[in-house]
Amino acid sequence: MDYTVTEALDQGYIVRALHEADLDALWILDNAAFTSPWAKSQLQEELGNPQALVLGIFLGETLIAALLLRQQADEAWVFRVMVHPLHRKKGLGKQLMKIGLKALSTLGFTGKMLRLEVAENNVAAIELYKILGFALTRRREAYYPQQDPMLPALAAIEMARLIP
Ligand SMILES: CC(C)(COP(=O)(O)OP(=O)(O)OC[C@H]1O[C@@H](n2cnc3c(N)ncnc32)[C@H](O)[C@@H]1OP(=O)(O)O)[C@@H](O)C(=O)NCCC(=O)NCCS
Repeated sequence: MDYTVTEALDQGYIVRALHEADLDALWILDNAAFTSPWAKSQLQEELGNPQALVLGIFLGETLIAALLLRQQADEAWVFRVMVHPLHRKKGLGKQLMKIGLKALSTLGFTGKMLRLEVAENNVAAIELYKILGFALTRRREAYYPQQDPMLPALAAIEMARLIP
């Protein structure tokens, strides 16, 4: 999705759309933020996909947060949202999601659904989504296998909200 934004947040954080030149920075961030990071090729695909919009927050030259949005039919999905562990609990995830919602309404998605899926044990993400007005739409039992194969697979929680 073609969207240009450069927005300065408090404390020197800058938000802008990410492009293929940002691949290395996104890959490094993804590896720092997730226990199951994506392959670099998967991130590259999103950065080059005309149906995707990837937004990032920078502190100086360093990418410290990112949001991957994807158009699917006449809806949008949050594919991935991540904040570097050293920069969590400062409101950056919330601010980036709000900027993503604003971007989607600018792109003509007003009144459409923004959906996402999250593992049932991801308390931080579920709380963030609830604060932003996402509500449960579906629960899929035993969807995410755990790293320890002795542990039962986790349910997938699907949530959605209207794009303003
Ligand atoms: C989920 C994530 C993006 C949140 O980013 P963040 O910048 O730390 O979140 P914010 O500071 O904006 O928090 C907003 C709200 O979310 C909730 N929240 C955030 N972290 C939380 C935690 N560890 N435990 C409980 N609630 C939490 C709080 O309600 C918080 O509001 P508050 O600060 O007023 O209490 C971050 O924890 C992360 O990158 N996690 C790893 C990647 C991931 O799992 N992404 C989601 C699936 S794709």
